[in-house]
Parts: sequence; structure tokens; C-alpha cells
Amino acid sequence: MTRGTGGVPKAVVLGAAGQLGREVASELRRRGAEVLAADRSRADLRDTGGTAELAAAFGAGAVYNCAAYTDVDGCESDMDQAMEVNGRAPGRLAAALPSDCRMIHVSTDYVFDGLGRRPYREGDPTSPRTAYGRSKLHGEPGVLDAGGLVVRTSWVFGPEGRNFVSAIASRIGEGAPARVVSDQVGCPTYAPYLARALVDLACVGASGIVHYCNAPATSWHGFALAIADALGLSVPIAPIPSSELTRPAVRPAYSVLDTSRFETLVSRGIEPWRPGLDDYFERLRQGKAES
Ligand SMILES: NC(=O)c1ccc[n+]([C@@H]2O[C@H](COP(=O)([O-])OP(=O)(O)OC[C@H]3O[C@@H](n4cnc5c(N)ncnc54)[C@H](OP(=O)(O)O)[C@@H]3O)[C@@H](O)[C@H]2O)c1
Repeated sequence: MTRGTGGVPKAVVLGAAGQLGREVASELRRRGAEVLAADRSRADLRDTGGTAELAAAFGAGAVYNCAAYTDVDGCESDMDQAMEVNGRAPGRLAAALPSDCRMIHVSTDYVFDGLGRRPYREGDPTSPRTAYGRSKLHGEPGVLDAGGLVVRTSWVFGPEGRNFVSAIASRIGEGAPARVVSDQVGCPTYAPYLARALVDLACVGASGIVHYCNAPATSWHGFALAIADALGLSVPIAPIPSSELTRPAVRPAYSVLDTSRFETLVSRGIEPWRPGLDDYFERLRQGKAES
């Protein structure tokens, strides 16, 4: 296993075309690690043998699994695919990796029922209410049994992805009023900050389950108001109850994660998401200026 100038081992990033995978690959490169950034065409998570061989041939000391079937509503009608990609493949792959290569696996707040009243700790009982949540929960034990790390996160937004921020920004950017649910509370998480957290955790040799998200907790409506503020727009954004939005998968009412374990492991606090929002729009502006 070889290490970059910052002591960060060579790494394979799976799901490297996704909003988090892109950020993990650039964070690793920024720290001097050699990276094989593999999108689905290069490494399909379901192809355990091929993906493990790729990691071994590259001499990877870590595999960051940012690949997942992330269409929460789609999972409801395609549980077989959700279980294969999110549920079975991660553990199979973690077990097939060379002994000096660890899996850093990303999971979700959806493993909880969303009925809690205080931030969820790593050891709290899980009880997913969606097919996506069940499939992601199923994926955790195999990774842990193989000595890997499972990092649960929530409400991820990155400059290179389709997410809540891009959806709201495009709606209010056209001057259209928005209606956004105000009775679901969680913590937005900026993908570049999450990428840094994953690499930090890998570098301190963390294992087990760790919760990571940004602060403070807010509702989707509160987050939408912050998006409008970051864009300098004053478009009406009305709060609505979840009951006015019918979707195949029920969304958790409360999905705040307790990040104390993360903070102890890496000896720093979690980032506020608001500067992440400003950075998100700054990066979009720079991208447009360069193209
Ligand atoms: N987004 C959130 O709010 C959120 C919240 C909590 C946890 N997470 C977790 O965070 C991780 C990263 O999510 P994200 O937001 O970056 O999602 P994303 O943008 O949808 O990226 C997921 C990537 O996985 C790829 N993929 C799907 N099936 C694959 C397969 N069989 N083999 C290889 N690659 C495959 C997708 O490729 P295609 O485009 O080709 O399908 C996509 O590039 C996931 O584990 C997700 O469950 C996300």
C-alpha cells in the first residue's frame, strides 16, 4: 500500500460521478493521495469480484463507497435492485477486499424511524420506514463485520449534483413562488465537508458506525429560506405540512444525527452548513464563468 504526501493511502472511490463521490476524489487528491475515481461504468458495485480486483490491482489502502441506489421513491417500487445495490453488495465487497484495504461506506439517517425527539446516536435502535432505508440498513453489518467504517449522514447537497438546493434554486431563480414542507427537521450536509470528514475518519483509523452532518438542524422550509437568502432573492416561500405532499416513500419527521462520536474521533467540531451554501453558489458561478 502506498501513501500520498499527507500520509493518505491510495484509494478507490466508487460512485465517483455522484455528488459525494466527486468531492471525495478531489479531497483525496488535494491531500496528495493517488486516486482511482470509478464511476458505475468502471466499477459496478454489484460486480464484487471485478471491483475487488480493481482495488487490489491499484494497491488501494481504502475503498470509499459513495455508490448507491439513491432514488428514495424509486426504491419503493424496485426493492430487488435497492437490496442488491444498497443491501447486499457493500458487505460482499468489503469482505472481498485485500486484508490491507478498508471500506469507508456511506449510510443514511433513513435507517431511523424519524419519530425521535433528540439527535440520534449511533447505538440507537433502527427502524427504517422506507425501502431505501431498509436497503441501506441491510448494507451496514457486512461492512462492519469486515472491519470497515460506516458513516451515516443526511440531506447531502453538492455543487455537482441534483439535490434540494438545485431544485429550490432553479424554481425561485425563475421567480416562481415555492411551497416547502416545514414539519420535517434534519441537518443539511455540504458534500465537500462530508468528503473531508470521511477522509479524516479514515486517517484516524475510525471503525464502527459514525454519524456526521452539518449544523444547525432546520426544516426544509428553513433551508429553502436560507437558499433564497444566499441567492439574494426575495421570492415567497410558503411553509406547508408534509400531508400536502404525497410521495411513494414517507420522509422522516425528525432525522437529526448526534455527531459527538465524530467530534471526539477527529478532535474538531462539525461545520455549519450555511458557509457551505455560499461556497456551493460560488462554485457554480465560477463554473459558469469558466465555461
Ligand atoms: N443525497 C442525500 O441526501 C444522502 C443522504 C444520506 C445519505 N446519502 C448517501 O450518500 C452516498 C452518496 O450519495 P449521493 O448524494 O452522492 O448520491 P448520487 O449523487 O445519486 O450518487 C450515487 C452514485 O452511485 C452510482 N451508482 C448507482 N448504482 C451503482 C452501482 N450498481 N455501481 C456503481 N455505482 C452505482 C450512481 O451512478 P448512476 O448515476 O449511473 O446511477 C451515482 O453516480 C450514498 O450512499 C447515499 O445513500 C445521501
